[in-house]
Amino acid sequence: MKILFVGSECVPFAKTGGLADVLGALPKVLAQRGHEVAVVIPRYKKIEPGKALLPAVSVAPGGTSHVASIRDGRTRDGVRFFFVDYPPFFDREQLYTVQGQDYPDNAERFALFARAVIELARRVFTPDVIHCHDWQSALVPLFLRHEFAADTAVGQIPVVLTIHNLGYQGVFPADALDRAALPRELFHMEALEFYGQVNYLKGGIVFADALTTVSRKYAEEIQTPEYGHGLDGILRTRRERLRGILNGVDYAEWSPETDKFLAANYSAANLAGKLECKKDLLAQFKLPTLDLKKPVIGVVSRFAAQKGFDLIAEVADAFLRHDLFLVALGTGEPSYEQLFRELAQRFPKKVGVRIAYDNPLAHKIEGGSDMFLMPSRYEPCGLNQIYSLKYGTVPVVRATGGLDDTIEPFDARSGQGTGFKFSAYTGPALLECLEQALRVYSKDAGAWQRLVRNGMKKDFSWERSAGEYEQLFQQTIRLRKAASPLPAISSRIGAN
Ligand code: ADP
Ligand code: GLC
Repeated sequence: MKILFVGSECVPFAKTGGLADVLGALPKVLAQRGHEVAVVIPRYKKIEPGKALLPAVSVAPGGTSHVASIRDGRTRDGVRFFFVDYPPFFDREQLYTVQGQDYPDNAERFALFARAVIELARRVFTPDVIHCHDWQSALVPLFLRHEFAADTAVGQIPVVLTIHNLGYQGVFPADALDRAALPRELFHMEALEFYGQVNYLKGGIVFADALTTVSRKYAEEIQTPEYGHGLDGILRTRRERLRGILNGVDYAEWSPETDKFLAANYSAANLAGKLECKKDLLAQFKLPTLDLKKPVIGVVSRFAAQKGFDLIAEVADAFLRHDLFLVALGTGEPSYEQLFRELAQRFPKKVGVRIAYDNPLAHKIEGGSDMFLMPSRYEPCGLNQIYSLKYGTVPVVRATGGLDDTIEPFDARSGQGTGFKFSAYTGPALLECLEQALRVYSKDAGAWQRLVRNGMKKDFSWERSAGEYEQLFQQTIRLRKAASPLPAISSRIGAN
């Protein structure tokens, strides 16, 4: 199959979260499995432009004319990369925000991106299936099924849309219709309209041939009002086309045996290096390194309400009465940055905080911590807890979405399980779970060793999920062929 991935971030070019890890890994695995795969993202400031393949793509019919270009990002690990280049929109420091606020022209930016992607598909790389990710590429199926429906090159290409996080939908005031030159006739409840505003993700959900999200549990959850962020109704209407496919891990990037950012490498067979990593981690945070028996609890996260920081705030004082270290790395909402800064000030010998985006340090936290904390309010998949398993760092998580699907609760009697889970989204439930983990850690070294090794043995490599995507792509191609015969010859000629 010929597959085009469309997204807004991708390792190693641009990253704010797990989406970039997925777009960096899944295409590679599909290419290894014999498919012809390309990825297209915007060309942000730090990305080398490469050669212009389509130098002048005019991409705003009806609105102000923007002339973008499609750049050749070359081939890496068997995957071809393309960039949509339009400096006024994408040559910026941050991907989506400035000083914590969304860019005011995000509607125009990602409408232009979607239109340029369609030109790429028409004129340079015409795939059998397009795989879009999140709201930033959700207009691709809408444009394809609408203004390009009769186009002979792309009109019948099926689109799979993966929802990585329903909390981000690309919602804009109604004037975005004009600003982004969107089809006015689609501004109604069954398409782009959402409580008087324009909702890109909703448009994608309506027009994509198939929908996926990144764990089975989250695929169920988003059909309920509690987790649906207002889109549960529309998702329920499309539930036969919605399924959960769990993310995998790129173990070439995330394995303690080969990780180049760690002070020492280690494996399940020889854990000696993990202690060195712990010492190094404490030193990075300027915490005392004399007593390496005390547990280190790690946090690496976007600082967003989704991640459960209000629970941490609620229990921090009680939790920090225990003899332990807490190290946290993250950036995001100022109130959570402040929360962690204050904890570090109040408990300077116990708490280490780095308000930054720092990939090497993220790896060091995975390697050097004993436990990894993710008390998320919701979590579509979550990658850090899966990385933690491989690093012998025991996850303490809330049983939601992908966290629930990937972590099995530890049972001391049978010695089975890989972590600690709690269900109710409350401070006391989190505290009790943490204290249970601390008890096993300090009172039963044998059980803890088993727990660590159980996790390290788990295999979440991409192969299985890549196979599921393959099947879905094939099925989607078949369905579209069956559902929509080619348009009449006359309209096909007219479209060109
Ligand atoms: P999400 O995509 O919701 O942020 P995931 O757990 O899927 O959550 O993925 C987060 C990814 O981003 C992981 O690779 C994690 O290591 C990385 N990450 C998050 N915050 C930081 C940070 N401050 N510095 C470095 N890496 C980070
Ligand atoms: C999102 C989700 C996270 C998921 C990631 C990759 O950012 O918040 O749970 O792991 O996308 O799919």
